[in-house]
Amino acid sequence: MHQSTAFVQKIMSTTKPQTAVDVEKDPLIVIASNRGPFSFSRDENGDFSVRRGEGGLVTALWALAQQNKVLWIAAALSDDDRAWAAQHANKITEFSGIFLKLITPDREQYDLYYNEISNPLLWFIHHELWDVPRSPVITRRVWEAWDAYRAVNEQFAEVIAESVEEMSQDDEDRPIIVFPQDYHLYMVPYFLRKRVGDRVQIQPFIHIPWPGPDAWRLFPEKMRTAIIKSLLSSDRIGFQTKRDAFNFVQTARFHLNDAHSYGARDSITYQERKVAARAYPISVDVEKVQAIAEEPQTQLLKNQLLQTVGDGKLILRVDRVEPSKNILRGLQAYRTLLEEHPEHRGKVVMMALLVPSRMEVEHYQSYLKEIMAEAGMINADFATEFWEPVRTILGNNYHRAIAAMQLYDVLLVNPIADGMNLVAKEGALVNQRNGVLLLSEYAGAFYEMGEYALSITPVDVYGTAEAMHHALTMDMAERAERAEKLREIVANSGVTYWFHRQVADAMHALRATYRTSPEEQ
Ligand code: G6P
Repeated sequence: MHQSTAFVQKIMSTTKPQTAVDVEKDPLIVIASNRGPFSFSRDENGDFSVRRGEGGLVTALWALAQQNKVLWIAAALSDDDRAWAAQHANKITEFSGIFLKLITPDREQYDLYYNEISNPLLWFIHHELWDVPRSPVITRRVWEAWDAYRAVNEQFAEVIAESVEEMSQDDEDRPIIVFPQDYHLYMVPYFLRKRVGDRVQIQPFIHIPWPGPDAWRLFPEKMRTAIIKSLLSSDRIGFQTKRDAFNFVQTARFHLNDAHSYGARDSITYQERKVAARAYPISVDVEKVQAIAEEPQTQLLKNQLLQTVGDGKLILRVDRVEPSKNILRGLQAYRTLLEEHPEHRGKVVMMALLVPSRMEVEHYQSYLKEIMAEAGMINADFATEFWEPVRTILGNNYHRAIAAMQLYDVLLVNPIADGMNLVAKEGALVNQRNGVLLLSEYAGAFYEMGEYALSITPVDVYGTAEAMHHALTMDMAERAERAEKLREIVANSGVTYWFHRQVADAMHALRATYRTSPEEQ
């Protein structure tokens, strides 16, 4: 027998189940995420109204909670969220079909965890956004923030462990699967495993790209090692693409001496635990997006937008104001298009629907200012009496975004790095003009959609301009064929499938461990 196979088998045979699990029962699904599915606001009478939370993660997971019994644990983000949690005495509360529990971390700790570690540091490492000669600068404050990050994660783990116990009091052998979401909660597997042992399946999903081992050199060794080791206390780790999963395996091998990977390099064996790294590409809630496209409000907004576009062609982008989305180079590419191919002047409009985000981070504010300045300069340089080349619309209006997506001739999705990019999928699903997708090869969506999109290298402004020209002049038959293929790809694998695959893998592992063989009965 091959040496590595023998080793893996030895590990599996020495892992003893602690408590019985009835694998025939439906699992209790626990989602833990920083941002929860709802945000609450309180009026002057003390009554609460509720709004669905924002962000791609919430959009994706919302659909699932409608169909599965889930316990969702999230942080209270605002004062009113905290007040709602206090009013419910921090108890698990069934709310719109979801069992919800909000944790209320110490405010200062939360600020450090979110605004010092998660958003600037981890986000920037994952998307490789550093201007390395100048940043990052790891100061004493960052080290304090690291302690706060750990503390908030520990609090999450504590609340998950308590809530799981409470929810399975009368049902002790029910399978339990915990899905910690994203980079805010990297330390949860470590703290949770200490509390729940091996009985609970822990399966983080990482929504953002996982860079290769070198990117992690910019993160102090102690923090980096803690994160990798914590993730290796899980049962398996979900990523958006095979490249991300492979990069994680390489990162673990490179930065931990005693982490090994055998064969297909799709798992890590570390301290007698074999942890798989798998790709589960996320998608959109197909039925819901299609339904929103039909709503009267969307139709109204579509008519308004049509007035802006007129008879011209529409190049659309829809993004959070986010450096990794590469909005500036997108505008530069459009300027290049107008310079190199003047025949498009007066006949095309670039519309950028931009959702302001993380404005408390200075870098994001200055990025928005640069975008607005560049858009303004393009208009100053090229506008005529009857034509405004760029239209930027700021704000968060999902119906408007879906309306615009129905109308594009070209959809520009050119991120420097992106976990998946759901705009590419939403657009392909609802577009009615056989629009062409221009897709960065560094968007996770490229793995599924790249073949039928025009691929772009995000830093290549000239190449992006040429791709715009190609898309605008493509013959109708080719446009129709590409658009149809893209629509099919998205329609055939919605977000429900994404989640069911993860649950199925966890259940498969539980069955392998806990199902008694006929001889034992
Ligand atoms: C985007 C990313 C997610 C991330 C979220 C956090 O949507 O794709 O991976 O979890 O941002 O956003 P927030 O506004 O909650 O910090």
